[in-house]
Amino acid sequence: MATATSARKEETAAIDFPAELLSFINEWKDKQGSLIMILHKTQETYGYISRQAAEELARLTGIPLARIYGVITFYHFFKTTKPGKFKVSICLGTACYLKGGGDLMEEARKLLNVEEGGVTEDGVFSVDPVRCVGCCGLAPVITVGGDTFGKVTKTQLPEIFARYRALA
Ligand code: FES
Repeated sequence: MATATSARKEETAAIDFPAELLSFINEWKDKQGSLIMILHKTQETYGYISRQAAEELARLTGIPLARIYGVITFYHFFKTTKPGKFKVSICLGTACYLKGGGDLMEEARKLLNVEEGGVTEDGVFSVDPVRCVGCCGLAPVITVGGDTFGKVTKTQLPEIFARYRALA
């Protein structure tokens, strides 16, 4: 059983970046404005930027941890908590919003009992708004685990979520 001490140790354990991320950091770290690029690549690799990852970035780039966190918290795009196994993105771009994207967001939050940007208790879903996923003709659009659903109605959401929950 994990104790508070061992959990704390885990939290502060060093992280080994994969070779691809390391070479990206080495290629970019001395270029101007590189921090955002490096943070994007880190989030692409892990789905979020953990405390350990931020500390390792500070060590590898020489950029102070406070500055790294300043950027992470300024841009909503960056996540500091692990996303759900399936990312639910609800489009709130103009076309989708006009066709009920906001209602889909509200319904999804209710059904999954989660805040916008949050993760369900079982870790299966995280729910985020997005601004246009490039198929406005299918508005309103949501994506789940990278799959796109168009012309979605509130009544379809329970079945869509159940399908992915069964795969979790
Ligand atoms: S506004 Fe939703 S896909 Fe373009």
